[in-house]
Amino acid sequence: MDLDLLSKYNIPTPRYTSYPPANYFHEGFTADKYYESVIASNQSNPQNISFYIHVPFCPRMCHYCGCNSYPMGKADVVSAYMEAVKKEISALLPLIDKNRKISQIHYGGGTPTAIPLHYLKEINEMFLSSFACIEHPEIAIECHPGYLNEKKWLQLIEAGFNRCSIGIQDFDEEVLKGVNRVPSLLPIEEVIALLHAHHLSVNFDFIYGLPRQTVEGFAKTISRAVALKPDRLVTFSYAHVPWVNKNQLKLERLGLPEAESKRDMYLRAGDILTASGYTPVGLDHFVLPEDSLNVALQNGILHRNFQGYCTRATTGQVYAFGVTAISQLANAYSQNIRGINEYIQLVGEGHLPVMRGYQLTTEQQLAREVITALMCNYKLNWAKLAQQMGISLETLKDGISYDNDKLKEMAADGIITYSAEEIKMTEEGKLYVRNVAAVFDPLMREEGAKRYSKPV
Ligand SMILES: C[S@@+](CC[C@H](N)C(=O)[O-])C[C@H]1O[C@@H](n2cnc3c(N)ncnc32)[C@H](O)[C@@H]1O
Ligand code: SF4
Repeated sequence: MDLDLLSKYNIPTPRYTSYPPANYFHEGFTADKYYESVIASNQSNPQNISFYIHVPFCPRMCHYCGCNSYPMGKADVVSAYMEAVKKEISALLPLIDKNRKISQIHYGGGTPTAIPLHYLKEINEMFLSSFACIEHPEIAIECHPGYLNEKKWLQLIEAGFNRCSIGIQDFDEEVLKGVNRVPSLLPIEEVIALLHAHHLSVNFDFIYGLPRQTVEGFAKTISRAVALKPDRLVTFSYAHVPWVNKNQLKLERLGLPEAESKRDMYLRAGDILTASGYTPVGLDHFVLPEDSLNVALQNGILHRNFQGYCTRATTGQVYAFGVTAISQLANAYSQNIRGINEYIQLVGEGHLPVMRGYQLTTEQQLAREVITALMCNYKLNWAKLAQQMGISLETLKDGISYDNDKLKEMAADGIITYSAEEIKMTEEGKLYVRNVAAVFDPLMREEGAKRYSKPV
């Protein structure tokens, strides 16, 4: 690592998992503003529709969890919540242009597979009976295999899902016990055989950096996983934020692995995955070479939204339902309230349950596309991006201001190659992609980097 580059570029910069980052969301963005943004989204690109449904309940809380999840309450709370979600959907669907097509439906949580599964089928039917779909829409759900017997897996297939993201985390039952998690109810080999026999795509989620995990043990888990040939694997680095989730303090008591050991788990897993034919997408995703995410990456058109990586084909205006869910529209973000009871009450009274959001200016909308292209693909081709956005090259380039001298300096430092047509991160420069993205960020120019962490 070049230490001069490190000291020059290791300065506070946004992570750009969204643009603008969620810390810009504010309560001045109200339900009325969301309503207007939904209406405006009918005239905006991308033209497709993406739906996200948040189911926050979990039968048992994993102590490492960093998701928006709550212990599963009484059955009547779950049913009142799901009825409220259906009501929120019913209120919103008439606002969306009927000529638009669904490209993506995604259920996240929490544990959407731990509630009575008929709700999922009913909600899918609400969407699919209201809109046509693109040719290969992605209808996906996050699955906890600990609560799914064969009948329930078949029910998910019958509800119309074509992709299951299965939370494995680790195959070692001692590791799972340590974090208060139940293992898969069925042998995972049986689950994947069942899903593949019905032509579903399968993702596996893993976490490294938990108590009782070792480099050898995690390598064994990843080796068992690749033998099953899931379409995609994600190796999440355990994010330890006990000030957000107090349960994580219990993991400190069990003893977290040293930083060096955690790093080796990641590197060893990456070696096993690449030696088995998987190719990395971003830092933590591994996919088969023919997977649409890798094809998009090779073509420089990989994209992402709050649901994760996607391609331009599956990208849509994201309309999100349920507590804490974030809608991502062309000119705004809107996030729903947190409280389950408050949500049930507000929706019951006929309100859109908005907590906060952000309205993007035209320049911020363009900056979002430029920044996302750079962050996902490590390169930016201006003409290609304008074409994907359905606007002229002039509109894109004239609409966004940036400091050319800054780019020249970055090229001279060897972190990018740079021409009038294209910007590309060098291998060494990839570490500093956030710095390059920040050149196009109007908010960074106005407010500086006070609120952010350093890239390395
Ligand atoms: C909503 S959960 C998945 C669905 C289901 N609740 C389950 O646990 O299988 C999404 C994923 O986030 C990851 N995750 C949760 N907490 C995390 C943390 N603190 N650090 C890193 N990854 C985390 C886990 O891999 C998990 O599978
Ligand atoms: S990891 Fe999944 S099951 Fe565990 S608490 Fe979080 S959301 Fe719930």
